[in-house]
Formats: sequence, structure tokens, C-alpha cells
Amino acid sequence: MSDKFVINGGIPLKGTVTVSGAKNAAVAILPATLLSRGLCIIDNLPMIDDVKFILDILKELGAEVTIDENQVVSIDTSNANTYKATSPLMTRMRASYYFVGVFLALYGKAEALLPGGCAIGRRPIDLHIKGFESLGANVEIRDASLIAEAEHLHGADIYLDQVSVGATINIMLAACMAEGTTFISNAAKEPHVVDVANFLNKMGANIRGAGTDTIRIRGVKKMHGASYSVIPDQIEAGTYMIAAAATKGDVVVQNIIPVHMEALTNKLIEMGVKIERGDDYIRVSNDRRPLAVRIRTLVYPGYPTDLQQPACVFLSTAIGTSIIVENIFESRFKYVDEIRRMGAKIVVNDRIAVIEGVEKLTGAPVRATDLRAGAALIIAGLMAEGTTNIYNIKYIDRGYYKIEEKLISLGADITRTEISEDEAYNLEYIY
Ligand code: EPZ
Repeated sequence: MSDKFVINGGIPLKGTVTVSGAKNAAVAILPATLLSRGLCIIDNLPMIDDVKFILDILKELGAEVTIDENQVVSIDTSNANTYKATSPLMTRMRASYYFVGVFLALYGKAEALLPGGCAIGRRPIDLHIKGFESLGANVEIRDASLIAEAEHLHGADIYLDQVSVGATINIMLAACMAEGTTFISNAAKEPHVVDVANFLNKMGANIRGAGTDTIRIRGVKKMHGASYSVIPDQIEAGTYMIAAAATKGDVVVQNIIPVHMEALTNKLIEMGVKIERGDDYIRVSNDRRPLAVRIRTLVYPGYPTDLQQPACVFLSTAIGTSIIVENIFESRFKYVDEIRRMGAKIVVNDRIAVIEGVEKLTGAPVRATDLRAGAALIIAGLMAEGTTNIYNIKYIDRGYYKIEEKLISLGADITRTEISEDEAYNLEYIY
């Protein structure tokens, strides 16, 4: 049977929490180790399900993976020699499509099961395909797989019609050893895009401009093994910052890069939350309901879409009416039905949520609909009066390392328990 989280809310979080490595950097850096055809040693990897899935796929591809007692991962890809990634694990997450860019760079061809990922919109891959085709590959989708082949992979000028984290990274991966120079215009600038570029350069790639609108990749003949430490997770950090404020607590969120948090930090200050910035931590303290604000999710350095749901939950108890406009994904408000069961007053119309602040939330049985919605429901349970049961928590385990342990260390009353048979049966009727 699956598990659930049981939360008794109303306890202010207090203390210090250490943020783990960035999921969205790790899920690209791990496939990229294949480009070295050698030994890579990766530190600060979050041992979340998505990372474990990718490590399992790498092993299926012939890589040797060892994890030491400090969770430092050694990956020897010298014996990995296939351009096909057909493991069912590929369909469990969005990031599995990075194997296509890597296989194209290594072998000039690729065959990969189409990716899965959170149900927050259509999540097309047309920009990835446009990039691969510009580099000289023929790409087709057949038998639920993406199949690409290039006589000769060459540099190209690629303009992304829409800023896309995945397409930016996938094109960088494919272009690393293409003949000539590739420019990616209108590139994504997220911290994890920069982290992947830095890792590729440590393996001998020649990439400049990551973190700006235009990235230049000069193809190199060969790449080699490297050691690397993944940056801290901007979204995990933001989740704990919001949880601290939403529970009227006082928490130091450490092992972060504060500049990555600026959009959220400034929004929390606007809500009346007290913020103290350190060089590798941010202290968040709050003793009142937030002031209503407007949030528009944007590409980095704008307000991150992955922190839209946690902010919405906090604002559900604001003084006044807040507005959130979700500009990145077309259906990222599904979780609102769940927090309405806890007393939230939110009206959603397409990409806009109007949040009328209420005094407090009250506990209820709720279900995670995707990874960040799950995190938002945990925050709702922590701030609500009474007990909240959160189902479908497998989504949460994909992206948050030891979330209940970290919250318990901050004083939260949260336990992970198995769902009983008849509880699972009843759930069929609740939803
Ligand atoms: C990455 O998804 C992250 N996932 C997402 O985090 C994050 O929400 C998103 O970037 C935006 O920051 C990973 O890195 C594994 P996009 P990705 O391509 O790459 C459209 C989480 O919770 N688009 O930047 O899929 C797309 O539909 C997850 O950690 C196309 O139209 O996002 C969206 O509207 C959720 N065609 C917009 O671009 C394409 O070919 C941005 O998507 C690709 C994307």
C-alpha cells in the first residue's frame, strides 16, 4: 500500500534547516556524465526518487555507480555504449529526455522513451526537437519514443521561441561535441542551467554565456571525467522559507545561494515577513498573517513557477485579496481544489487565481496532484488548525530529500504512515 503524511498543524517552525543539492541540476548532470566516457565524482546530490531513477537508468546503460557513506556518487561511464534508453523508468520523470541530447552528442543517434513529469500542462518538446534538427538531426516520434539520427552533428544558431529550461539544457548537451559553434538565443537563465554548463565545462566542454540570454557552445573533440558539487536547490530553499513564514516561525535556511532567492525574498518582505540575508543562509521570521500581494510567475530571475503553489497556500490566510498569475504552465492550479477543502477562498480562472484571505485553514484529507502541489499541501497542513492527511505523497518524494525529517527537526508534528486497505478504498470515493 502507499503512504500518507499525517500533520497536526499550528506549530511554529523554529531552528535551522540545511538545503540539499538542486534536483533540476542533478537530473541533467547525471545523464551528462556519459559524455565523459570516464569517471565522474558528483557531490551534494539530493538522494530523491528522481535522482535514484536516473542512477538506475545509468546502470541499465552500462555505467558503474557507487555511492559512498557521505552520499558522494562515483559514476564510471567508460563501458556505457548504447544510444537506446528504453527503461520504463524513463517515463517517470520529465528529465529523462536529457539522455537524447547526450546520445546525439556521443553517437549521432538516440532512441528514448518519451518523458513523463508533473501534470501541470501539456509539456511539449517541440523546442528540444527544433534544437536537435538545427544541429543536423532527423527527429521523429514513434512507438512512444523520441528517435533522432544525424549524419553529421554541426553547430547552429538556435532561437528558442519560448524560454525553456529543458530545451536550453538539452541543446547544450547535444552541441557539446558537434562540429563548429552553436548559439542558443532566448536561453533559460535558471541557476540549474548555469550549474549544468559549469559541469560540462569541467568535463572539457567550451560553453560561455550560461546565465545570460545567449549561450555559445564551441564543439570539442572529446570530453573527460570530472569531479563536481551540485548547487543548492533554489526551490527546496524557497519551500522552507515559505513554510517558516506560514507557520509564524523563525527558521534559518542554510546552505543556499541567497541571490538565487531574490524574487521570493522580496515577495516575502512585501507580505510583511522579516528576512535576514547571510552569505549562505536566509533567516525567515514572522508572527502575523501575510499582507496580500500580486505574484506573476516568470522565468529566472522572475518569481519561479515552482514556488507558486507554496506561496498561494500562505496567501490563503492573507489580510486582503491576492492575485497570482501563472505565466509558465497552463494548468498549475489543480491543487486549489484541495486547499479549498481546508477553508481557502480561491477562485481560479485559467492562469489566474484570486485569493481572498481567510483567518485560518483547518485540517482535512487532501491529495497531492504533483510535486510542488504536494509541498504546498504540507505547508497548508503545518499552518492549519487540526489534523491533515496528505495522500499521493510519492510525488513529494520525487523532489524533497528527507522532508519529514527536516520538518520534524524544526518542531513540526508530521508522520509518514501506511494507508490501510479500507482507507484506500474510501479514497476512491473521495476523488
Ligand atoms: C523545468 O521543466 C523544471 N523541471 C520544472 O520543475 C520547472 O517548473 C520548469 O523548468 C520551469 O522552470 C526540470 O528541470 C526537470 P520549460 P521544463 O521547458 O524544462 C514550454 C519541478 O517541480 N515548452 O522551461 O519542462 C512549456 O510547456 C518541475 O521541479 C514548450 O512549449 O520547463 C512551458 O510552458 C516542474 N516547448 C514553458 O515552455 C518545449 O519544447 C517552460 O517550460 C519545452 C517547453
